[in-house]
Amino acid sequence: MTQRIAVIPGDGIGTEVMPEGRRALEAAARRFGLDLAFEAFDFASCDYYLEHGKMLPDDWKETLLEFDALFYGAIGWPDKVPDHVSLWGSLLKFRREFDQYVNLRPCRLLPGIESPLAGRRPGDIDFYVVRENTEGEYSSVGGVMFEGTEREVVIQETVMTRTGVDRVLKYAFDLAATRPRRKLTSATKSNGIAITMPWWDQRVAAMAEHYPDVDVDQFHIDILTANFVMHPDWFDVVVASNLFGDILSDLGPACTGTIGVAPSANINPEGRFPSLFEPVHGSAPDIAGKGIANPIGQIWSGAMMLEHLGHPEAGAAILAAIEAVLAEADPTVLTPDLKGRGTTERLGRAIAERIGSDG
Ligand code: NAD
Ligand code: IPM
Ligand code: MN
Repeated sequence: MTQRIAVIPGDGIGTEVMPEGRRALEAAARRFGLDLAFEAFDFASCDYYLEHGKMLPDDWKETLLEFDALFYGAIGWPDKVPDHVSLWGSLLKFRREFDQYVNLRPCRLLPGIESPLAGRRPGDIDFYVVRENTEGEYSSVGGVMFEGTEREVVIQETVMTRTGVDRVLKYAFDLAATRPRRKLTSATKSNGIAITMPWWDQRVAAMAEHYPDVDVDQFHIDILTANFVMHPDWFDVVVASNLFGDILSDLGPACTGTIGVAPSANINPEGRFPSLFEPVHGSAPDIAGKGIANPIGQIWSGAMMLEHLGHPEAGAAILAAIEAVLAEADPTVLTPDLKGRGTTERLGRAIAERIGSDG
């Protein structure tokens, strides 16, 4: 059965890492006999916006609903289009309209990469951030009053629904229950944010009753960020609201050496809508056009996509190839964020070759 994948490179380094993501997927498809059909789109990019005055064509939803998964690079080029316009007009719209309410973001210290945290080795950092992805602090409820006057007031409400919070908590508890350590940490701030966050804590406690085998703890977000740095080995599955999860899912990968390796899966677990797979990082205007972006975040996101599409062995083979190439630590292959002098393409090709030759 053919599985259709929409390819949306976006902006900046999104367009540079995407070919390497595809190269790895094609290598895995050859090795495992998968029938993947790719179709590329130029929308959801700032250049598309400059040409059309909008980020997406009017029929974007019908078009993308035809696909089994969306493979996405990165969006945003603030010098061309304000970020809130480009992101609310594309990525955040996909997450909400396709009800991708789980943003699953693994943080793993891979072999051959030096953590900026002294003495940390692979195995010491190996956890998932499960980020609520459709509501919370990313709400469109609010507005500006008395604009342009001294009485100006700006409000943006945090919106949490019982359905929305319970379903992401359930996903996180289910995930924790499958892990050897069976540990779940909740990111809260119920000491200061005294309406939504005590309620979040209550929902966590209510969900925990259904999972007596999962060991649950919680930290306020401020000390939690400190503990990511001081004690990354404490964490297994970390569940967080939209904004807290956003912050933790850059900090976690930074502790594993570089955000350039971090993948993510924006999942609609019920499969009513296509899920979206993208690196955690953005379009990196500071290095775009130089061919030096690390493609591993994109490639690993492709591995998560294959697992989601029912090909766990192919996903695992991609991850094994990433680990093997990193472990070789060849400075002519690794990109500068990994302290090498290789290029995006060189590292991407090394991983794809490895996927092909391991079979
Ligand atoms: P960023 O992730 O693009 O870059 C942050 C820093 O990390 C930069 O120094 C960059 O060079 C480095 N970096 C990122 N990815 C890398 C890679 N693969 N290899 C090597 N180094 C890498 O974050 P930013 O600078 O805050 O945002 C730039 C633009 O991207 C903005 O428009 C922002 O809104 C957007 N953005 C988009 C997404 C997304 O599409 N999912 C995510 C984050 C930011
Ligand atoms: C991410 C990004 C997005 C987010 C931005 C670009 C809107 O930072 O995917 O983590 O905040 O979710
Ligand atoms: Mn982010």
